[in-house]
Amino acid sequence: MDVISVIRTKRDKGELSPEQIDWVIDAYTRGAVADEQMSALAMAILLNGMNRDEIARWTAAMIASGERMNFDALSRPTADKHSTGGVGDKITLPLAPLVAACGAAVPQLSGRGLGHTGGTLDKLESIPGWRALLSNEEMLHVLDTTGAVICAAGDGLAPADKKLYALRDVTGTVEAIPLIASSIMSKKIAEGTGSLVLDVKVGTGAFMKTIEDARELASTMVALGTDSGVRTVALLTDMSTPLGLTAGNALEVRESVEVLAGGGPQDVVDLTIALAAEMLAAAGIEDADPAKALRDGSAMDVWRRMIAAQGGDPDATLPVAREQHVVTAPASGVLTRLDAYDIGIAAWRLGAGRARKEDPVQAGAGVELHAKPGDTVTAGQPLLTLHTDTPEKFDYALGSLEGAWDIAPAGTEFQATPIVLDRIA
Ligand code: URA
Repeated sequence: MDVISVIRTKRDKGELSPEQIDWVIDAYTRGAVADEQMSALAMAILLNGMNRDEIARWTAAMIASGERMNFDALSRPTADKHSTGGVGDKITLPLAPLVAACGAAVPQLSGRGLGHTGGTLDKLESIPGWRALLSNEEMLHVLDTTGAVICAAGDGLAPADKKLYALRDVTGTVEAIPLIASSIMSKKIAEGTGSLVLDVKVGTGAFMKTIEDARELASTMVALGTDSGVRTVALLTDMSTPLGLTAGNALEVRESVEVLAGGGPQDVVDLTIALAAEMLAAAGIEDADPAKALRDGSAMDVWRRMIAAQGGDPDATLPVAREQHVVTAPASGVLTRLDAYDIGIAAWRLGAGRARKEDPVQAGAGVELHAKPGDTVTAGQPLLTLHTDTPEKFDYALGSLEGAWDIAPAGTEFQATPIVLDRIA
């Protein structure tokens, strides 16, 4: 087997054989295939695609590159959720303790933000003392004793994906449906969850800009999960505007705690409950009421225990950025569009996100929204507040907000986009 023939097969729109796939993933993980060779193959896959058999084999080879976890010893059924990433997507924070409060065990291996989308671990690290890195034993202990754990995936889980994802990130090859599907599902299947709910985001702030692409990604991932014995369901959800009223690490933790306290923005509450209902159904838990668990404080109790079990202080004051800048509405009328991508870029430029994996993030940086599409606004009223520790970044962030919203004349009828656009099982 040689790598050039594998690259040529895909470059010439051929089908990779199972042997070629097993070999190239293993050789790349071992360092026998160079980054430039793998990036040529990734680009050929992005341009020419892979069929379902190739994707299934590619996923299996990435799983086989590392260890598999096992939650069979737990007394509760396991349910996990994965979001393909968006702006203001803090749903994991209230969702994991909520589903645990309803009787499932939630092993939530999460990632860091890159580019305009935030990362769950960066958000939680704004809580003083909280640790993302746990050994497998610690992770199982937190899961067993609190019902939920949110932590970084260990180095042993799908190492081929870790290496390949970092390479795709710097070679313009992230946005390939076969590579995204195999990347996400190799980690989820190796993690060993019994059931999985995928939140596939659609819109300007998501990887998938169209509902057709989102459906293709979702059905590919549902098939991969189901064929591996993981009960898998996908919701396609709107990411044309940010979720909730905040985008930025500590800002989003604060909003998540509001949701756990029975308040918070309606879109965050609605999506959290919709995903919780799917996770509980997939885990075979029929009689739970997630809305009640938010109202009666039981989800908040699990949150507090889960944060404390990972070294965090649930009562600590969250970091606040040193400087604020208010952006006002330029006209009166109905806000008909507030673009998720533009807000995500602004939050990132303010310091909430990173350009390279090793960059630090600012805990307090981000964007606070004072209106959402459908709201009536008055000229001069605050529309957004920008937060950062580095005020020289305000102009840079403001640059990304040019054209980020539309305000129509007062009285214009506004058709709200539903938060859940489709379901694929
Ligand atoms: N998230 C992943 O884990 N992998 C991808 O390829 C894209 C998003």
